[in-house]
Amino acid sequence: MSTKPRLWITRRLSDATLARASRDYEVDINYDDQPGTAAQIIAASAEFDAIIPCHSEHFSAEVAGQLAPRLKIVANHSVGVDHCDLPALKARGIAVTNTPDVLSDATAEIAMLLMLGAARHAVAGDRIVRSGAWDNWSPSFMVGKQVTGARLGIIGMGRVGLALATKARGFGMELHYHNRTKLSDEKAQGAIHHDQVESLLAQADFLSLHCPATAETTNLMNADRFALLPPGAVVVNTARGALIDEDALLDALASGQVAAAGLDCFQTEPGGNPAFSDHDNIFMLPHIGSATKQTRDAMGFRALDNLDAFFKGETPQDLL
Ligand code: DGY
Repeated sequence: MSTKPRLWITRRLSDATLARASRDYEVDINYDDQPGTAAQIIAASAEFDAIIPCHSEHFSAEVAGQLAPRLKIVANHSVGVDHCDLPALKARGIAVTNTPDVLSDATAEIAMLLMLGAARHAVAGDRIVRSGAWDNWSPSFMVGKQVTGARLGIIGMGRVGLALATKARGFGMELHYHNRTKLSDEKAQGAIHHDQVESLLAQADFLSLHCPATAETTNLMNADRFALLPPGAVVVNTARGALIDEDALLDALASGQVAAAGLDCFQTEPGGNPAFSDHDNIFMLPHIGSATKQTRDAMGFRALDNLDAFFKGETPQDLL
């Protein structure tokens, strides 16, 4: 009989991750690749010592309260853990880890792409060429907002925010940030700290969100805050949909207060917000910030590193 811990992998992770997991654990992989339901998670907790979920599996307080004692660790394949009720899992004695660092560059690349695409009419431009409707050219045609040299406001100057700042420096952007703690001069490299979100917003020709979804950050960008941006600002979100009041964003786009938005995250996922589809000035992607081969492998390996440490009796590096 195998003495390896039993591990449930809830989604189709990268091939390299699945190969390593299958080598080191007695693994059950959900090749169906549909999100695990509450009932499946609860049932799995009686059969498995560990679960590697994605942000698509919800460990609410209600679910945590019904988990069997066999389950010892939830080693998330994500940096965000808003799908986990951490106090409830902790109360059940279940360790929880995440995968920070390894996805920062991939996510910052998508933030840059959204910023550029939103500012330069990527949606309308692609459509007009693709549809064969491009029959004229004019110097007043699809004139956008220049990224180079503009002011970028970053809310949440953690790992992804810092990775975006590095990329934005390549575009000569003037950097402003709001973060719970002020960075050292060495880390900030000239980025200007704002201890209030409000003062940052007034400087943000471009605004990019990089904070976790918590009770405090829900609808962080609401009607009052959109009104504080310089008119014609561009708003980018690669963090979590909960950070933006989507009706307020639509109003800000309708008035021109916000010229364009680049969104990889939505209040409702999967699916997004159908009301956004009528707006060519919203450049959208389906939550693929960390979706590169390199990063998916690194996320899977980081989750497995955390599991390995846990089952060796060590403290996993990303224990929350
Ligand atoms: C994360 O890691 O939090 C990404 O959003 C993908 O789940």
